[in-house]
Amino acid sequence: MKTILVTGGLGYIGSHTVVELLQNNFHVIIVDDMSNSEKFILDNIEKVAGKRPVFFPFDLKRKELLYQVFEAYEIDGCINFAAFKAVGESQEKPLDYYENNLFSLINILQEFKARNISNFIFSSSCTVYGQADQQPIDENTPLKMPESSYGKTKQMGEEILKDFATAYKKKVSLLRYFNPIGSHPTALLGELPIGVPNNLVPYVTQTASGIREKLSIWGNDYDTPDGTAVRDYVYVVDLAKAHVKALQKLMAENSDTVIDIYNLGTGKGSSVLEVVESFERANEVKVPYQICERRAGDITIAYANADKAERELGWKAETSLDEALRTTWEWQKYLESRK
Ligand SMILES: NC(=O)c1ccc[n+]([C@@H]2O[C@H](COP(=O)([O-])OP(=O)(O)OC[C@H]3O[C@@H](n4cnc5c(N)ncnc54)[C@H](O)[C@@H]3O)[C@@H](O)[C@H]2O)c1
Repeated sequence: MKTILVTGGLGYIGSHTVVELLQNNFHVIIVDDMSNSEKFILDNIEKVAGKRPVFFPFDLKRKELLYQVFEAYEIDGCINFAAFKAVGESQEKPLDYYENNLFSLINILQEFKARNISNFIFSSSCTVYGQADQQPIDENTPLKMPESSYGKTKQMGEEILKDFATAYKKKVSLLRYFNPIGSHPTALLGELPIGVPNNLVPYVTQTASGIREKLSIWGNDYDTPDGTAVRDYVYVVDLAKAHVKALQKLMAENSDTVIDIYNLGTGKGSSVLEVVESFERANEVKVPYQICERRAGDITIAYANADKAERELGWKAETSLDEALRTTWEWQKYLESRK
């Protein structure tokens, strides 16, 4: 049985991926400092997967604690989800973002180098493409330096990993997520937005449940069919499955140095208004909204060409927008039942 370190494994995408890893017979060790997650997620992972991963609650910047984990376990690979991810906050606290997202990454890579471990998967983002000149976006689309410090940590993280793979002959996979949405079908795992959500779907959900009075739609004068911004919304369980496939591919590679890059999206763009309509249809609830000024830094349109992931990983997003949004609503009801 292979042992995988999953950093940020109590977080939104991490917790879903841990379930998939456990169900595929990996031994999982989670390190998560709970800066954006809660302990009950660990219990819920066990309820869903029927197995409890090993869990260490500490900050990955603490090298000495990380060293102890690597001393205690024979680690075969890592999926590195741990990062701060709030775009707006990253503009106010850029140093915190660079320090957290990049020092953590480097600390793990140092252990990999020292112990001759390979197989590293990095959570990147479609933000590395900025406003691409063409849609859909494939992996050869030129990168543009993101405006936010958060986005820059993703682009820098990718560069660090390319250098790491090349210099030390390692296998890495850079997964560029488009817009992850939805919750586990059991309603036991999902996104825990702290404060006012940055992302559309948690905002829609909180508005439908009455936590927020109205959804703010940032601009309806974009050059898109209905004037609202278009994104590629990918269901989180589909996304989690892609990690297992990317890891299995890396582990099966014979060459010493591998740098895989995959877009993970559905290949379909949906506008903000289409998401609202889909949510209302799937859950039979109303989402009051207001049109506001465009938000600085938002791009008009981004959706993936994910053919490479299908070709090389045998992965394809399968879940519809309506179905993903139905799971989101079940998760919201679950969260409210816990209060
Ligand atoms: N959710 C998205 O829309 C999205 C899109 C593209 C990329 N990503 C990337 O995917 C990854 C996972 O995103 P998510 O939505 O699951 O985020 P999340 O905040 O739910 O999960 C991240 C987890 O990492 C933990 N963490 C953060 N810094 C840490 C540190 N220094 N030490 C230990 N634990 C730490 C947090 O407590 C949290 O549980 C992140 O790297 C994020 O940048 C997310």
